[in-house]
Amino acid sequence: MSSSTIEQILRGDVPHAGQAPPQAADPRLIPVRLQINGQQHQLQLEPRVSLLDALREFIGLTGTKKGCNQGACGACTVLVNGERIKSCLTFAVMHEGQDITTIEGLGQPDHLHPLQAAFIEHDGYQCGYCTPGQICSAVAMLQEVAQGDASFVSEDLTATEVNLTDVELRERMSGNICRCGAYVGILNAIREVYEQQPNPLRA
Ligand code: FES
Ligand code: FES
Repeated sequence: MSSSTIEQILRGDVPHAGQAPPQAADPRLIPVRLQINGQQHQLQLEPRVSLLDALREFIGLTGTKKGCNQGACGACTVLVNGERIKSCLTFAVMHEGQDITTIEGLGQPDHLHPLQAAFIEHDGYQCGYCTPGQICSAVAMLQEVAQGDASFVSEDLTATEVNLTDVELRERMSGNICRCGAYVGILNAIREVYEQQPNPLRA
């Protein structure tokens, strides 16, 4: 019996039978407030917890997948302030005050995001494990294209408009690996959504 428990008993301050003794706050934990899919989440996390683990293990948003856990596969891709990032490579505490969107926040079964609907339409998956990351990545990629961002294979780095050729599309999605090899369907799905968007290069 610890000396503090003996002191409690001597003071007459004895816990009821079966009542756990009061726990000291875990000094490893810090408060973190995350805004995810428009909802605030107040967490107590160790600073070493990745955004991916915070989403899956602490909030229960398991749509975001853990593949390699080292930045190589893209299964964990989410949107932070509209930009795509690999959530396994970043700490949750770094994202307080930012707007985080996961696959659960993009659409609902009765109101799918156009890319979610296009992936279904074009069989852009087989096992589906890479799919949430593919779709989140594609959402941000199409925004990058719309704002004229160059890629590694862009021939004219000064151009303000992107012609999304198949080479450009494959390069821009190359951070998302599909072990099932569903690339034909993935690219067709993304292309369909891209072609529904206004683009002066196709006018
Ligand atoms: Fe993050 Fe593979 S799990 S890149
Ligand atoms: Fe299985 Fe892409 S659908 S890994």
